[in-house]
Amino acid sequence: MTKLRVGIIGTGKKKERRDRFGFAMAYEHADAYQALDSCEIVACADLVEENARAFADTYEVEKIFLDYRAMLDEMRLDVVSICTWPRLHEPMVLDACRAGVRAIHCEKPIADTWGGVQRMARAAEQAGVQLTFNHQRRYGTPFVLAKRLLDDGAIGQLVRLESDPGNIYDSGTHYIDLFSFFNGEQRAKWVLAQIDYRQENLVFGAHCENQNLVLTEYENGVFGLIMSGTGDSSPVGCVDKLVGADGVIEVGVTNGPALRYRQAGEQAWVTVDTGGESIHGPGFINRAIADVVTCLLEGRRCQLDVRNALIATEIIFGAYESSRRHGRVDFPLEIDDNPLAAMVEQGILAPAPMTTGGA
Ligand SMILES: NC(=O)c1ccc[n+]([C@@H]2O[C@H](COP(=O)([O-])OP(=O)(O)OC[C@H]3O[C@@H](n4cnc5c(N)ncnc54)[C@H](O)[C@@H]3O)[C@@H](O)[C@H]2O)c1
Repeated sequence: MTKLRVGIIGTGKKKERRDRFGFAMAYEHADAYQALDSCEIVACADLVEENARAFADTYEVEKIFLDYRAMLDEMRLDVVSICTWPRLHEPMVLDACRAGVRAIHCEKPIADTWGGVQRMARAAEQAGVQLTFNHQRRYGTPFVLAKRLLDDGAIGQLVRLESDPGNIYDSGTHYIDLFSFFNGEQRAKWVLAQIDYRQENLVFGAHCENQNLVLTEYENGVFGLIMSGTGDSSPVGCVDKLVGADGVIEVGVTNGPALRYRQAGEQAWVTVDTGGESIHGPGFINRAIADVVTCLLEGRRCQLDVRNALIATEIIFGAYESSRRHGRVDFPLEIDDNPLAAMVEQGILAPAPMTTGGA
């Protein structure tokens, strides 16, 4: 069998302690491709030669590039993984679409502006490229079993989804995307939100608010409620809560199990065995990338497709826009920028500068 030729953009540098300044996600993508017989990593690109070389040595990658465009031009790639910071995702996705790759698997969050998100989705559609985003928790046992409980009727009709994701842009992209997973990829109709941004909080180079309160309504009438406390307390008590007419499911309970549920009228929670998996893994990215590749080979739409990912992204940028407008924002969201970044640039929000190591 001819193997799919995979190229990686943004190898990163593997560190002992990963943080908001470098997670080296490329290594997790590479582990996942290497586990597949159908794929071969033939090239990698990074601005920093030392990073590219270390990565190439680890995975026995033949060709390294400092200019990712040269890699796209020369390597006849089938699949590209983009593992750079969010502000680079848009130009890199557009370049990869122009280069004629078959599939792009890009890290989250999709992009740093809502206009960018839409340009990426359009470019992929016009070029016939499979464009997916690494919302890998959709493949995590705690989340998969929560969805199964919901579908099996354990809590009756879904009424409301709740989350405390910390911030809505960086970590929220996962947990709000999971609202779509639980709620059958329904689109949202509107969003009403307020944020607080008093202490600068840059995560992978992007502003993230300190506190948020976000209400949205999906087309099927299910509500989404996102709330965060001041750091040492959580108004939701878990990363995702599914509230049904006849009970509640909680995923990623603070200081508690990865998954539990309680049916109406019952006092006790039922803890569900997730086979040792927490809300972070292990194994999620391997499963996600295996599915991305299988969907490409079988011509099926992957659940990580940009058309699903932009449901949560519209809520995120819509929430920042609602805060800017002091009012409800009806969808479709008709802005081009990132309202949070714009409010900081214009001095409307003036967070105290971040000290070393971040807030
Ligand atoms: N899915 C998840 O759970 C998860 C977890 C952490 C981070 N992330 C996301 O992964 C993405 C990457 O973050 P990271 O911390 O792994 O990155 P990183 O900082 O570890 O690596 C990024 C690399 O990109 C390189 N780079 C920068 N500009 C480039 C260019 N023009 N051409 C080629 N290379 C270039 C840098 O030199 C660096 O080596 C971010 O979007 C982040 O939000 C996802």
